Amino acid sequence: MYSEKFTASIAAVEAAREANIAYEPARMSAKEKEELLAAYHPDYKKSEFVALKVGANKGDVVPHELADTLQANSRIKADDVDLDSPAYDVDVLVIGGGGAGTSAAIEAHRAGADTMIVTKLRMGDANTMMAEGGIQAADKPNDSPAIHYLDAFGGGHFAAKPELLYKLVNDAPDAILWLNELGVEFDKTEDGTMITTHGGGTSRKRMHAAKDYTGAEIMRTLRDEVLNSGITVVDFTSAVELILDDAGNAAGAVLMNMETGELMVARAKTVIIATGGAGRMHYQGFPTSNHYGATADGLVLGYRVGAKLLYADTLQYHPTGAAYPSQIFGALVTEKVRSLGAKLVNADGKVFMHPLETRDVAAASIIRECSDRKNGVDTGSGTAVWLDTPMIEKIGGEGTIEKRIPAMMRMFAEYGIDIRKEPILVYPTLHYQNGGLDIDADGMTTAVKNLYVAGEAVGGIHGRNRLMGNSLLDIIVFGRSAGKNAAAKSREVSVGKLTLDHIAAFAKECKDAGIVTDAVSPKLLPDYRRK
Ligand code: FUM
Repeated sequence: MYSEKFTASIAAVEAAREANIAYEPARMSAKEKEELLAAYHPDYKKSEFVALKVGANKGDVVPHELADTLQANSRIKADDVDLDSPAYDVDVLVIGGGGAGTSAAIEAHRAGADTMIVTKLRMGDANTMMAEGGIQAADKPNDSPAIHYLDAFGGGHFAAKPELLYKLVNDAPDAILWLNELGVEFDKTEDGTMITTHGGGTSRKRMHAAKDYTGAEIMRTLRDEVLNSGITVVDFTSAVELILDDAGNAAGAVLMNMETGELMVARAKTVIIATGGAGRMHYQGFPTSNHYGATADGLVLGYRVGAKLLYADTLQYHPTGAAYPSQIFGALVTEKVRSLGAKLVNADGKVFMHPLETRDVAAASIIRECSDRKNGVDTGSGTAVWLDTPMIEKIGGEGTIEKRIPAMMRMFAEYGIDIRKEPILVYPTLHYQNGGLDIDADGMTTAVKNLYVAGEAVGGIHGRNRLMGNSLLDIIVFGRSAGKNAAAKSREVSVGKLTLDHIAAFAKECKDAGIVTDAVSPKLLPDYRRK
């Protein structure tokens, strides 16, 4: 329910609606985009970044919140645990129970490896579960992996690691088939053809979806498969340090029971980090669309044992986070809303950008509209722009919203807002970590052997900006491949003597660099207590 203070602005949006539907805003030129990003995108705000003083990326700039957590103290000392008495001894240890971790575990198990998932919350408490709009795959006659590659490479500012993006787009059609066979209920026409739509920056309609709860549907299916396969899942238990062997290869992790604090050793021939993103780091004070456990843990675990980071200075601010009412501040308003025809308009009802620019450009454009241009709507706790959702029903016909984006409709209906009839207020929300650990095409880190990474903890797949639907895709493609490769590798690995010597070595490096801090990491959970 909107209060009276919004009435005049809503009236302006309504008055302009018919004309706005007909209006085709121009796309920005490359130069316009560059200037816009430099002036308004949070990644370009130099004062928010600092150079790392230690580790494999010493000298590289990252958000200062990330630097603080990467250069914090370990939660443990080496002699807190008895490395000679592991509680678990497996072939493949998967850290993280989201889409990437479960995909990896399913494939490792199918390849015959003794596989275990450890997850700090419950299996499925992950960004995968929160994903809405869809998953990209070039599987229609007018499309191809090559076209998908070009869209994603350009959208990522030509910075993606070519071998990773090549794998992403080429393995995409098979990822959809795999999910379909596992039981994911994708949207289909009556003859069984998959329904696909555009996302920002796509030149073909290749977004496959399960309405606007695609991630939840995928996670439901993967979780069932893990449970039905009998894979060991240890939940409410976090990995707090990786363990190396005396050859310097990954060989397990120290686990901490989240309730009791009890420490346990998991010995493993190969380890897969699938810990997801970092929205709960709230970089630059942004709200987030991420789940509660998204605290960059995998980056800390990997960095402390010497793994390299790639593009850790680039984050994705989803253009359309809910900005009103406050109860859903920062929650994701899927890009699919714009794919279905809703346009972004300012307080005067004026369209100020093409609705399907890439995310970084769209977010910067909204920030400009609300800041320097002073065309935003005052929400009471900030400024925002309108996303004119009633356009969808006018374009697609009555019932389109309920059929295609029912979760959006229900989220706002909880607060008395009928998105079929009223526009909604949106502002960028911290959504995705573009950067992460540096891997090769097999999914192994470039610096630490037998350590694999999959999902949002990987850096370089998408370059410096990711297109919608390529994250649900990468968790499946790189999750599956990490699982298969880690299982195969485990057959040839003979684990040496376990060691946690890296803890003291990293602490010394920090001390020598003059870092003095009480902070401990990995963070595991955000701290929202009032200070
Ligand atoms: O807008 C969305 O539905 C988000 C999708 C994504 O991040 O891939």
